[in-house]
Amino acid sequence: MKVLLFGGAGYIGTHVALEFLDRNDTVGIFDNLSSGLRSNVNDQALFYEGDIQDKDRVLQVLKEGWDVVIHLAAFKAAGESMLKPIKYSQNNISGSLNLITGCIKAGVKNFILSSSAAVYGEPSYLPVDENHPKNPTNYYGYTKLCVEENLKWYAQLKDFHYVSLRYFNAAGYDERGRMLGLENNPANLIPVVMEVASGIRPNLLVFGNDYDTVDGTGVRDYVHVTDLAKGHVLAADYLNAGKGNLVVNLGSEEGLSVQQILDTARKITGKPIDAQYVERRAGDPAKLVASSQLAYKSLGWKAEHSSVETIIQTTWKVYQANQKKLEP
Ligand code: UD1
Repeated sequence: MKVLLFGGAGYIGTHVALEFLDRNDTVGIFDNLSSGLRSNVNDQALFYEGDIQDKDRVLQVLKEGWDVVIHLAAFKAAGESMLKPIKYSQNNISGSLNLITGCIKAGVKNFILSSSAAVYGEPSYLPVDENHPKNPTNYYGYTKLCVEENLKWYAQLKDFHYVSLRYFNAAGYDERGRMLGLENNPANLIPVVMEVASGIRPNLLVFGNDYDTVDGTGVRDYVHVTDLAKGHVLAADYLNAGKGNLVVNLGSEEGLSVQQILDTARKITGKPIDAQYVERRAGDPAKLVASSQLAYKSLGWKAEHSSVETIIQTTWKVYQANQKKLEP
């Protein structure tokens, strides 16, 4: 199979590329290296430097002929999207439309979108399944919903098929240590905890400890990035087999609180990891946990690497490997 990954040099894309390379598929990586790293691009993959907002470059690469396109090239900081909506419109919406319309023009028929649990907004019931109302509480979540809606239209109007994968909280690193690139300026919980453990951030700010949850801190569904990556391979096979369109959640179906993550990280790293309990962060739901039953029924997917220990251990290994670079 020939697979082209837009945003394939980023955190999730690099893991996705490894899964396809492991089964000897041809992998192309298109990335502008704004947050992705050239060092993340595996030697066995083809690399195309380019920006998804550059229609001509996108079309030129799409015309090389691909069985499946995977789109992971998006900004993903929910808080930032509320302050810089134009940045998110241009890249996440216009950029995605360039890819979809480029696929139509180049005759690429299969498309996989990195979508997000952020499309649901504040949950009205748990676990959240795919039929849950879609009311994003941040602009980032809206950009993902908007692209999903366009995919639905294009799949009706053209010879074009898609799978949208709604990730819950992606976390962890390749268990075989093949991916060592860290994200710059992370805003997500686990990388922040790791930066404190590594001594490059003074403390973790815990956003709220008065939620109606097991210990008052926010609860999320953390899913190991290798599980997510395997979901892309199954989705590509699904599309290639002509099974049609699909929108599914990818989550572990287990809720973990910020406090549980912190306690596990203290145990695994052996570091004190100072934490300050502060105000809730605007737009944060108390609890978000997936139902991934549809992914199981349709793709045969379920999370198998997503225990809290595996997530923290694999991440800590990578932070330790980078310790020299991280020191101020
Ligand atoms: C959000 C999006 C998710 C998206 C992800 C990508 C929503 C509802 N969710 O996840 O879809 O894929 O961003 O970035 O929009 N926390 C702290 N201190 C910190 C950082 C986080 O206490 O310094 C807490 C948060 O309040 C939350 C949990 O940790 O309870 C996880 O936060 P985070 O890692 O930022 O992800 P989400 O906001 O859940």
